[in-house]
Amino acid sequence: MALITIDQEKCVKDGICAAECPGLIINFKNGTPEVVKGAEHFCINCGHCVAVCPTGALSHKNLSPEECMEIKREFLPNPEQMELFLRYRRSIRSYKKKQIPKELLEQVIAIASHAPSGHNRQPVQWHVIYEREEITKLCGHVIDWMKWMIKEKPEMAKPMELELVVTGYEAGNDILTRGTPHLILAHGNRNDFSSESAATIALTWLELALPSFGLGGCWCGYFNAAAMFWSPLQKALGLPKNHLSYGTMMVGYPKYQYHRIPPRNKPVITGL
Ligand SMILES: Cc1cc2nc3c(=O)[nH]c(=O)nc-3n(C[C@H](O)[C@H](O)[C@H](O)COP(=O)(O)O)c2cc1C
Repeated sequence: MALITIDQEKCVKDGICAAECPGLIINFKNGTPEVVKGAEHFCINCGHCVAVCPTGALSHKNLSPEECMEIKREFLPNPEQMELFLRYRRSIRSYKKKQIPKELLEQVIAIASHAPSGHNRQPVQWHVIYEREEITKLCGHVIDWMKWMIKEKPEMAKPMELELVVTGYEAGNDILTRGTPHLILAHGNRNDFSSESAATIALTWLELALPSFGLGGCWCGYFNAAAMFWSPLQKALGLPKNHLSYGTMMVGYPKYQYHRIPPRNKPVITGL
């Protein structure tokens, strides 16, 4: 099957598909879109050629215009709404003792999976620790890792305040996971150059998506540091071979609402 097919009745010969193709593999020199000979394997399956065609004339062998989600432009935020949307997000550290329905978690993760990735490799996979008891069990491994760090790598443990965290945790304060009902890990193959950045971006998108569903989250840095380095925790997590967790997010129903947006440092910008 050809990589792209053109419905000549719909094609208005505007060359937009060729201009937008990231791999420059669509040629428009003959006044109609054609794949450059031998360049098929440079296609990264991003779907841009299909998505950008104003008349829906182009189909990719893996994607037809009908399979693409419709864009309702009237739903897009204006600059004021966008500013509020981005600044409204807060790290949430108090959660209701209520589980999020599994379908809702799947829905939010599916949205976050539209985050960009290098070469459109989409290397991120997700691991949900759904049950609170399981999180508490795993936290035991995190504390073991911290104790090991305090003993063996004191120069690293000190700036991370690990002693304080361990003491607090053992006194009954869940500084690690704040009583979150669920944890979501974004992981990928450590041998894939794009895994780490893709996971960071995807988790950022997840956190941004949560408030619209009445949910909230917070990065779980200590937990993830242990997940990257402590083999007993890695064993307990059971991620696929060669996979590393590049970010962990607490997720739940926020117990409290924020009423104001705290300011942040003025951005340092050069060149303007
Ligand atoms: C990579 C990363 C790791 C973080 N780890 C933790 C954590 O382990 N525990 C925690 O309470 N907050 C954690 N945070 C949340 C930050 O403390 C928070 O983003 C910061 O204080 C700013 O607050 P805001 O997110 O509400 O703007 C982490 C944030 C990032 C980006």
